[in-house]
Amino acid sequence: MSTILITGASSGLGAEMARQFAAKGHDLALCARRTDRLDELRSEILAAHADRRVELRALDVNDDEQVFEVFRAFRDDFGGLDRVIVNAGLGKGAPLGTGRYDANRETAMTNFVAALAQAEAAMEIFREQDAGHLVLVSSMSAMRGMPKSMTVYAATKAALSHLGEGLQYELLGKPIKVTVLHCGYIASEMNERVQQQVKFMASTEDGVRSMVDAIEKQKPHAYVPAVPWTALAPVMKHAPLPLLKRLL
Ligand SMILES: NC(=O)c1ccc[n+]([C@@H]2O[C@H](COP(=O)([O-])OP(=O)(O)OC[C@H]3O[C@@H](n4cnc5c(N)ncnc54)[C@H](OP(=O)(O)O)[C@@H]3O)[C@@H](O)[C@H]2O)c1
Repeated sequence: MSTILITGASSGLGAEMARQFAAKGHDLALCARRTDRLDELRSEILAAHADRRVELRALDVNDDEQVFEVFRAFRDDFGGLDRVIVNAGLGKGAPLGTGRYDANRETAMTNFVAALAQAEAAMEIFREQDAGHLVLVSSMSAMRGMPKSMTVYAATKAALSHLGEGLQYELLGKPIKVTVLHCGYIASEMNERVQQQVKFMASTEDGVRSMVDAIEKQKPHAYVPAVPWTALAPVMKHAPLPLLKRLL
């Protein structure tokens, strides 16, 4: 059993990954800004699995220095980290040129620049250990440029997926592993408002079960849940834009 650090563990996919990994016997290092939520989650996990170890820290992933401090402090708590899941993310955004540069910038900084800081901090630890598993929570929207409020979000996730693939390229045959998860719609706080409108919305439990399964298998990349997203991935990637517009 291993020690797993999860960022953005205060809600949605991060909190559910923590529950499911705890049930599988893993110890947890959990962080987010809303520490009251983390306290509740730890109580819930320990009530179900008294022998698990769950450490908590406040972290704003946009504070670069704090990212490195918090990751190193968790490493010191446990004497090492086996897996880091870069999950914290933001679904804010607006069509370009509509006066919401602030929202688009915040999305870009949180979903890519802060993810880079987390990947740097994790890789430093893994290189010292000569072992570790980095997991990047990307999105099906990384397959293609997306319109309107999704434009910057999709661009950040495409960048994140390439970051992961670049690391995989470098680390081929080495003991440090990298998984890139391309998540489809999974119920969470981020998409509460769109849950009624979209096809293929998985429940949090089912969607995260699919994520956890791919992570445990250390797959280099996975579309989750596999149905329908594995079949849709090539269509999303290659369909001409007018066809894509009709499909999505
Ligand atoms: N749900 C989906 O359908 C879906 C699909 C594709 C990809 N994803 C990705 O899955 C990841 C998790 O999203 P979710 O759906 O679970 O949404 P969520 O319920 O809104 O959770 C987002 C998490 O990220 C954390 N976070 C946001 N900004 C942060 C910051 N500056 N510093 C630290 N933590 C921050 C939040 O914690 P605090 O606010 O407490 O800090 C929260 O725990 C994201 O990367 C998202 O892009 C989700």
